[in-house]
Amino acid sequence: MNYEQEAQEKLNKLRDREDYLILAFESSCDETAVAVIRGREILANEIDSQIEIHKRFGGVVPEIASRNHILAIDSLVEIALEKAGCTLNDIDVIAVTYGAGLLGALLVGVSYAKSLAYALNKPLVAIDHIKGHVCANFLAHPDLQFPFMCLLASGGHTEILDVRSYSDMRILGQTADDAAGEAFDKVARVIGLPYPGGPQIERAAKEGKDCIPLPRPFKGEKTYNFSYSGIKTAVINYAHTCAQKGIEINKADVAASFQARAVGMLIENAVRAAQEHGEGTIVIAGGVAANTALREGMEKAAEKHGITVLLPPKYLCTDNAAMIGEAAFFAIKEGIPAAGMDLDADPNL
Ligand code: KG4
Ligand code: ZN
Repeated sequence: MNYEQEAQEKLNKLRDREDYLILAFESSCDETAVAVIRGREILANEIDSQIEIHKRFGGVVPEIASRNHILAIDSLVEIALEKAGCTLNDIDVIAVTYGAGLLGALLVGVSYAKSLAYALNKPLVAIDHIKGHVCANFLAHPDLQFPFMCLLASGGHTEILDVRSYSDMRILGQTADDAAGEAFDKVARVIGLPYPGGPQIERAAKEGKDCIPLPRPFKGEKTYNFSYSGIKTAVINYAHTCAQKGIEINKADVAASFQARAVGMLIENAVRAAQEHGEGTIVIAGGVAANTALREGMEKAAEKHGITVLLPPKYLCTDNAAMIGEAAFFAIKEGIPAAGMDLDADPNL
């Protein structure tokens, strides 16, 4: 039997079990992350963030991200195994994000995971980063079962997903242009706040008022889609007009107005999608799900409409490897085939 056949046989045997160990890798952007999970339990969840390194460039520099993943990954594995109280030999499955993301960054995780899987003769499971974000909710909410609605908002994606199973996630609405997190980052840059913009806008917004008129895309239309470029352009125009008039912009007011629009659109569409699809539970996922205005707004709107909203803790919203391991757990349950040694990174997955 070759490596691939043996790996598939091992995965088949794990399908109905919950007590085995998954070592998971995430390196799609600027976080190197390694986790060990067992069923729906996190045994270790190590993250080495490169935010401080990329801050001075105002955004992630792909080449620098790749190099720093290489520097961090080995020691993170050691720390994660120690925290989980196990060794590489105890690991049953290796899981890795293979897309979407930055090609060079993804390749570090994929190559590392492939080498480890082959050397240890353990099965490898390839995970779509977005499905990872959705599955973070299974770690956060032990009783959560399919189906549910998911509002996913990250730096690269903004989607409302009708999640029927691991392999059946249907996109009901998505962004027509920028992702929500991308818009937070761009607006922050326009008003002179550092990268990453999301947490900075959130902090600034606390001191400001929602008093600057900004457009509401798709207003009154029967769609679950989003659009952020119009709001972003309105902020840029506002900043230019202020500069021309020699008026200093009130960063807090811009932040509060932008956040109210950005978050309002997410909440309205998600709640309407759940209502119109007769779905009683909404979960949220992705980096923007760490935003307090979004979390509080979702809770309020859901309560008003009799819908249950589940909020994962903030450390499970932003990129991490535990969610990748959890996605692998569900992939295995649903009989998704093991990845072979020909697995490649797919930046546009
Ligand atoms: O999911 P994530 O960690 O990485 C991607 O897969 O993209 O999301 C990162 C994005 C960034 O755009 C960041 O600005 C945004 O999530 N973000 C936030 C907050 N924390 C992170 N946006 C709004 N409010 C936050 N508190
Ligand atoms: Zn992400």
